[in-house]
Amino acid sequence: MIGTHRSEPFLKRKVTVMTKSVDPTSKANIVLLEEPDEDEMKARECLSGGLNKFSFGHPTKKNAGTLKVLNDACLPVHYRQWFYDALFTRDIKLSRLVYFNDNLVGAICCRIENLSDLYIMSITVLAPYRKRKIGSYLMHYIINYTKQHTELKRIYLNVHTPNTSAQNFYKNAFNFSEVRRIDGYYTDLTPSDCFELELKIRD
Ligand SMILES: CC(C)(COP(=O)(O)OP(=O)(O)OC[C@H]1O[C@@H](n2cnc3c(N)ncnc32)[C@H](O)[C@@H]1OP(=O)(O)O)[C@@H](O)C(=O)NCCC(=O)NCCS
Repeated sequence: MIGTHRSEPFLKRKVTVMTKSVDPTSKANIVLLEEPDEDEMKARECLSGGLNKFSFGHPTKKNAGTLKVLNDACLPVHYRQWFYDALFTRDIKLSRLVYFNDNLVGAICCRIENLSDLYIMSITVLAPYRKRKIGSYLMHYIINYTKQHTELKRIYLNVHTPNTSAQNFYKNAFNFSEVRRIDGYYTDLTPSDCFELELKIRD
């Protein structure tokens, strides 16, 4: 989780199509057919509670406001608009959204650093939907992305030291290991320290 704001009521998504997403770079707003490959189908297997109720997508200019509401509801730091605008300057597949019955319930947002590191900026699941493996799906999605991009060597993130449940999630379910503790990482939080955790994908 990187380091800052609160607004907008929860918005129900207007269009639901199981395997479609809108290309935000297109002026024509072309709807792309996104056929899930084998890895994506495997990642979805962990989702319980009726797979047909889930749908998936990437951030678009239309849903960025809802993504911000989700992140603000789940994280102690509130990212400014530039965080969401910057999502469209990168490969859009570095971020993933999960909907349950058309409501945005989970999201992961990542970026590439130093050409070889995939950095998880945020991962959030709405509280009533936790412990249903939505977070696991998001992690499997991003691990698959990293495996498919051979220049990427590791996945890493920063987690607030008191956030033991997230630390357990990364360490127990995904074998992340602690790289170091960084004092004073979060300027707006007390305590301000974080752990850097990583998962090596290849040497
Ligand atoms: C961390 C988070 C994304 C996990 O999402 P989730 O959908 O609840 O996770 P999953 O259901 O996939 O959990 C998978 C495994 O992780 C571990 N885990 C998840 N939440 C845990 C918790 N609160 N305590 C201990 N272990 C936990 C368990 O091993 C769990 O397996 P189990 O369900 O068989 O017990 C979610 O709790 C969240 O949004 N937290 C608030 C935001 C946050 O802290 N994000 C991380 C910032 S660095």
